[in-house]
Amino acid sequence: MHLGVPCTGVVIVAAGSGTRLGFGVPKAFAELAGEPMLAHTVRALDALPGRVAVAIATPPADAERGGIAHELLAALAASMGSERLISAAVVEGGATRYDSVRAAIAQLPDVCDVILVHDAARALTPGELHERVAGAVRATGHGAVPGLPVVDTIKRVDDDEVVLETVDRSPLRAMQTPQGFPADALRRAYERGSVADTDDAATFAAAGGTVKIIPGHEDAFKITTPHDFARVERELARRAGATVELRVGVGTDIHAFDDHSPCWLAGLHFPGEPGLSGHSDGDAASHALVDALLGAAGLGDIGSTFGTDDPRFANAHGEVFLRATRELLEEAGWRIRNATVQVICRRPRFGRRSEEASELLSRVLGAPISVSATTSDGLGFMARTTDGGVFAIATALLENENLR
Ligand code: CTP
Ligand code: MG
Repeated sequence: MHLGVPCTGVVIVAAGSGTRLGFGVPKAFAELAGEPMLAHTVRALDALPGRVAVAIATPPADAERGGIAHELLAALAASMGSERLISAAVVEGGATRYDSVRAAIAQLPDVCDVILVHDAARALTPGELHERVAGAVRATGHGAVPGLPVVDTIKRVDDDEVVLETVDRSPLRAMQTPQGFPADALRRAYERGSVADTDDAATFAAAGGTVKIIPGHEDAFKITTPHDFARVERELARRAGATVELRVGVGTDIHAFDDHSPCWLAGLHFPGEPGLSGHSDGDAASHALVDALLGAAGLGDIGSTFGTDDPRFANAHGEVFLRATRELLEEAGWRIRNATVQVICRRPRFGRRSEEASELLSRVLGAPISVSATTSDGLGFMARTTDGGVFAIATALLENENLR
């Protein structure tokens, strides 16, 4: 009844220990967006057309992980139906990826005409790539492997990391999975292959097979390090419609003139101008920014956070407070989206340097900071140049860093 309907066999290797990820659990079973990483990898198979058979290699002597793989296959069977998912097996993997692939291939039924071999660790791989790889194998009768052009400059080095030469990268491709092959030829190749082969294409080619590269997919990258893992977490959160949390804050500061100290404002030095009084350098603009930022994050204010008895901040420039504030925000998971500060004073003549101040503060805070200046139209304490001072008002917008 099924004669002529192709069956794609899929091997998923999930038996590795995840040493470089370093989470203390086998990588494919690390929790990713509330599920084992393997769940994401398995779900993509639903997109394969026609009949499908799946075999997953799980960590040796680990009944718990084997059980999880069985559950994930049961969920796939529920969504695909038994007419489409004709076989689902879990097998213990081996000491090397090669051993794991070989063990899983043996679980696939003979009816499969094409076998795809896929890393569980490529959790974002779209179903579309599986479909294209299987289609390319059927169209050509050869192995089909997704690959991306190498974008970085490649150097050959000696044992001491001394550069010997630049390698022409134009004929180079970075390999991904799933790698697809005519089933019988792959089975024969794995009977005589070697654990030294670094991927399935190498095993297939060593047995005399031809392998063609087809365009890979940016999302099919392998999760190897904690950085890769965080990238996938963010992407899954974004796809789930997670919204970025925003927080706004406001801060003000006033410092009176102090003729005996140098004038520092918004991180800049104004030679010849009266300075501003205070425990630090009296930079009202920087202090207002600090209050806006801390306030937005719910982390208190400049006085409660950087006490006047802390020697690190005695006579400290505004930059020191701003850097320390940025660190506190980042530790708490906040990122500065932007901030503004307006300086209100008659002296120093600030306006002409507001762009310079903006560049400096943006660099220090790692976000766009706009700085402007105005006067109080001769009113209030700022009208009096001798005993007056500088007023600054700042606003800040923060966003939740985890979702970026
Ligand atoms: N793999 C496997 N059996 C092994 C080794 C690896 O099934 N003995 C699988 C991994 O589970 C992974 C894929 O092969 O899905 C690619 O391997 P890799 O990224 O190296 O994963 P790990 O070996 O788990 O990681 P590490 O090398 O950091 O320990
Ligand atoms: Mg490995």
